[in-house]
Amino acid sequence: MHVRLLKKAWEMLRKKQPKPCEFIDWLKFANPGMLENGNLYCIEYAIEHLPSSRPLIEIGSFCGLSTNLISFYLQKNGKTNPLITSDKWIFEGSENPQKLLEGSTITHGEYRTFVKESYIRNISFFSRDCLPYTVEKLSDDFFAAWKAGMLETDVLGRQIQLGGLISFAYIDGNHSYENAKRDFENVDSILETGGFILFDDSADSSEWEVRRVISELKRGSRYEVVAANPNYLVKKLR
Ligand SMILES: C[S@@+](CC[C@H](N)C(=O)[O-])C[C@H]1O[C@@H](n2cnc3c(N)ncnc32)[C@H](O)[C@@H]1O
Repeated sequence: MHVRLLKKAWEMLRKKQPKPCEFIDWLKFANPGMLENGNLYCIEYAIEHLPSSRPLIEIGSFCGLSTNLISFYLQKNGKTNPLITSDKWIFEGSENPQKLLEGSTITHGEYRTFVKESYIRNISFFSRDCLPYTVEKLSDDFFAAWKAGMLETDVLGRQIQLGGLISFAYIDGNHSYENAKRDFENVDSILETGGFILFDDSADSSEWEVRRVISELKRGSRYEVVAANPNYLVKKLR
């Protein structure tokens, strides 16, 4: 059998499941997304063990499923850390907004608008008691703005002051090696000691290049692996 399939089977067997929750079940029915269920365990673990009340960030929000889950776990655990997310809703092949989605009359531009509006509707409803701030930028520009301490206006028209240290990052944007590595380096430069990073699509069986970032990180000694469930949750040691 192919090694990757064996790895996948092993990951399924040892995966830690999140605690059952009615809200999450209904959220997942109504809010589209690309969620690996094992991430829920990792997100809850990180939120339970946050080292401070500093902000959490998410790179790549799509329709808001993971954003809503992070907000949910913050509330469930009585945490008031702000959640700040970044997405520009530019997808693979959508660089030309006039291009049609193959097999339809819908353009990439229309699809992008639909997804962004879905995101706003989904967070406005499901996270109404703990609204995240969402900055409409690609992550490189988001981190540049963060490091420059910019005052930004989010997609709900609210002002948000960027800058300072963060306590947790969920990296789920562009999965190429170069981008995932840059996202990691940028997060690393603003993550406090004891803070966490969850890398989506980083499982040992994953076909994404995020795995390469994890291999490099594991060779160093500044991060400890908290869980590979099957995606990697790591904690910054120094
Ligand atoms: C896999 S989806 C995110 C799924 C979402 N986290 C969820 O659980 O439903 C990837 C998202 O990352 C965004 N994205 C891609 N490249 C990005 C970048 N360089 N910076 C920020 N977001 C990016 C895309 O627009 C897309 O919405």
